[in-house]
Amino acid sequence: MTRAMTFGTRADAYDRLRPAPAPGALDQVLPPGVRRVADLAAGTGLVTRAVLARPGAPAVVAVEPDPRMLARLATTTPGALAVRGVAEAIPLASGSMDAVLASSAWHWFDPPVATAEIARVLRPGGVLGLLWSRADPTVPWVAQVRGIGNAAADGSARLSRRGFDVALPPGHGFVDELPEAVTVRWTRRMTRDDVAGMVCTYSGVLELPAAEQDEVRRAARELLDVVLPGTDDVDVPFETVARRWTRAG
Ligand SMILES: C[S@@+](CC[C@H](N)C(=O)[O-])C[C@H]1O[C@@H](n2cnc3c(N)ncnc32)[C@H](O)[C@@H]1O
Repeated sequence: MTRAMTFGTRADAYDRLRPAPAPGALDQVLPPGVRRVADLAAGTGLVTRAVLARPGAPAVVAVEPDPRMLARLATTTPGALAVRGVAEAIPLASGSMDAVLASSAWHWFDPPVATAEIARVLRPGGVLGLLWSRADPTVPWVAQVRGIGNAAADGSARLSRRGFDVALPPGHGFVDELPEAVTVRWTRRMTRDDVAGMVCTYSGVLELPAAEQDEVRRAARELLDVVLPGTDDVDVPFETVARRWTRAG
């Protein structure tokens, strides 16, 4: 199994514990009046559901290669059309989409091939929105707890950072609308066990043997009580980073 396909081993935990995009973040990537949206690498549908809930209720096609993630999406997100596919061969007609989104996923794609495919399925003037949602690593206790997972599985943090620096390959007519990226922050209340569980939904941890994943969860849970003493649930600071391009008409 490749690392990109590890999420499906814990699709239910992924869906329950990983963040949906920040309220307001979709405003950065979806212009008013968008009717047809493709959510690439849709996973379990966290972004798909947020798009379906927008004013005007756009039609959403969720494209995802992992059948275990798709199965979860089909259960939780019945309003979307769910199709199996990859960003490098998008199973949609040319010029058929007003917008293509990909959340916490660009680093899994082959950029030249995926960019050409996204340009193909977008209508002229359509938008590509890239999003990344995660617990805010600038908050010290978040960095410490996530650090448990990153130490056990070197690489996850590096992949995320590389993602924000996306420069689309030239020649596909994309105009960069948010070169500085926009970050939207919000807070979600979670149990301590769920915060520790969330640390274990990243690919670097997911590819560890089950016993080592349990050890990461246990260590994260213990550290939480040290860095945030108390027994109450935790207000977890999250961020969504947004980038947007328009396909020239
Ligand atoms: C971190 S998850 C993000 C899921 C969802 N977009 C979200 O924000 O929660 C990454 C997803 O990318 C999918 N994926 C991996 N390689 C892909 C590819 N080449 N094309 C499309 N999706 C891919 C994985 O199966 C996984 O569901």
